[in-house]
Amino acid sequence: MSQKGKAVLVELARLDAEQAQQYVPELLDLYADAYDGPPWAGNPFYSVERYAERLQDTFEMKGFEIVNAVADGDLIGTCYGVTLPPTVSWWTDLDASLPAELAKAATEGRVFWLRQMLVRKAHRRLGAGRAMHDLLCSGRDEDFVTLTVIISNEPARSAYLSWGYEVIGRMRLAPESPMYDAMARSIRSAHRPS
Ligand SMILES: CC(C)(COP(=O)(O)OP(=O)(O)OC[C@H]1O[C@@H](n2cnc3c(N)ncnc32)[C@H](O)[C@@H]1OP(=O)(O)O)[C@@H](O)C(=O)NCCC(=O)NCCS
Repeated sequence: MSQKGKAVLVELARLDAEQAQQYVPELLDLYADAYDGPPWAGNPFYSVERYAERLQDTFEMKGFEIVNAVADGDLIGTCYGVTLPPTVSWWTDLDASLPAELAKAATEGRVFWLRQMLVRKAHRRLGAGRAMHDLLCSGRDEDFVTLTVIISNEPARSAYLSWGYEVIGRMRLAPESPMYDAMARSIRSAHRPS
C-alpha cells in the first residue's frame, strides 16, 4: 500500500478474543477517529463509552475473531465478527423477509456476523478495509456472512454491494439508532442466498 507516493507496510494479524483484549485502548482510539463525523457524531449510541461496552460483549460471543491492521507499530484498522446468534433482535426483526436458505443457515450456526470494520482516516482508500475483510472471511467455518450498515454510510455501503453483498432487509439496531440495511452474501464467493 502506498500513501502520497510513500510505501506504507501494513501487517495484518488474525487474533482470538483473548489476544484482542490487549488492543482495547487502541481499538477505542481507532473508533473515536473513525466515527468522528456524520452519520454518527452527536448520537450517544455511538459514543466511545457505549462502543466500549459493545466491544466487551462482542469478545464474549461464540466464534469471535478479529483481524487487525498495523502500520509502523500503530493500529490503523480492524475488522471483527462472531457466529451469528439467530436470536439477536435485528436478525429476528427480519424474519418475514429473510431468504429461507439464510434463515436455516443461521439456526445451524452457519452465518458469520461481521460486526465491525474500521480504518483510521489517514489510511483509507489504500485497500486495508478490503484486505482485512477478505482475510477475516477466509477460513471461517460458516457458509454465509451478514452485516448491518447505516443506509447513508458511504463509502461503506457501496463497498459492500460491490463485494457481492445483497440487501436482505432494513431495520434499526436500537430505537435511538438510524435506519440500517442488513446485507448478506456467501462467505466464499458472491453466491446469492435463495
Ligand atoms: C468503510 C471503511 C472501513 C473502508 O476502509 P478502506 O480501507 O478505505 O477500504 P478500501 O480501501 O479497502 O476500499 C473499500 C472499497 O470502497 C471504495 N472506497 C473506499 N473509500 C471510498 C471513497 N471515499 N469514495 C468512493 N469509494 C471508496 C474502494 O474503491 C473499495 O472498493 P473496491 O474494493 O471495489 O476497490 C472506512 O471507510 C471506514 O473506516 N469508514 C468509517 C467506519 C465505517 O463506516 N465502517 C463500516 C461500518 S458498517
